[in-house]
Amino acid sequence: MDNNTRPAEMQRITTPELAQAFIDEQVAAVRARVGDKKVLLALSGGVDSSVVAALLIRAIGKQLVCVHVNHGLMRKGESEQVLSVFRGQMDANLIYVDATDRFLDLLAGVDEPERKRKIIGGEFIKVFEEEARKLEGIDFLAQGTIYPDILESHGVKAHHNVGGLPEDLQFELVEPVRLLFKDEVRVVGKALGLPESMVERQPFPGPGLGVRCLGAITRDRLAALRESDAILREEIAAAGLQKKIWQFFTVVPDFRSTGVRDGKRAFDWPVILRCVNTVDAMAATVPELPWTILQKITQRILNEVPGVCRVLYDLSPKPVATIEWE
Ligand code: XMP
Repeated sequence: MDNNTRPAEMQRITTPELAQAFIDEQVAAVRARVGDKKVLLALSGGVDSSVVAALLIRAIGKQLVCVHVNHGLMRKGESEQVLSVFRGQMDANLIYVDATDRFLDLLAGVDEPERKRKIIGGEFIKVFEEEARKLEGIDFLAQGTIYPDILESHGVKAHHNVGGLPEDLQFELVEPVRLLFKDEVRVVGKALGLPESMVERQPFPGPGLGVRCLGAITRDRLAALRESDAILREEIAAAGLQKKIWQFFTVVPDFRSTGVRDGKRAFDWPVILRCVNTVDAMAATVPELPWTILQKITQRILNEVPGVCRVLYDLSPKPVATIEWE
């Protein structure tokens, strides 16, 4: 059996005690393997990379070099949370790269969804590679590969549309959670002291808000998307529905519709609310949200988000519709 196969006798990590045992075992293994060498990690702020970061900080402290690339397509407050948790609370060795302009300039005028994904994925590798080349004495690359990645996509994280780093930057891989399922990764993350909002985060596509700002991304629609998404999240949380809906977000299409604001005709963007429940993302249903909550979200978006004059609730299950809009 290779070390990418989960042994049949491996116990499912469901409790803080089991998580602690796993952490102790991995900390010892990483220390033995890495010694006094350095490890590099692309830290997106997603569950898997965050848990790997926290685990490696526990094991080797500042020998872990984290790189957080802000591609400008993060949700509101996400990069700030990565900085406050990892730099502020965990004293991590963290390089923050704000590459917003680079990504948005490259994406300007590109409306084909797969091209958008390729550009975002490709540029991400490029920025990460540039940072890696500036560093010296790195021998290892840590990755948040989890067991479903190994089972479903031959060890490549799902939906990565580009290859990895170039040949001359091949490091030895450190993948401490590669035999764990997602629920186990969350239990381990909690035991490592990561905030609930990070550990229980719902799935978020690698290309981020880029696939929810439909068609060619513009800064004004991206801002409307980020603000409306934050309002939706706040209101769902305030209603106590956060754990009852599997994934929820907003979408801003690239067409406008008429409205009337302050007695004058407006010609503004719609915002679409997308909420789904699913087990494995292969099929999904749309939850019946209370009307009062939908009204409150609608009112807040119309009042608080510039350039928006209409709010829609997407009732389409998967199939026929996919969860994302592009
Ligand atoms: P669809 O839209 O295919 O989405 O019904 C199924 C799940 O996959 C997520 N998704 C992505 N995740 N990169 C990702 O990392 C992507 O390009 C991507 N597209 C869709 C989606 O959010 C949902 O959870």
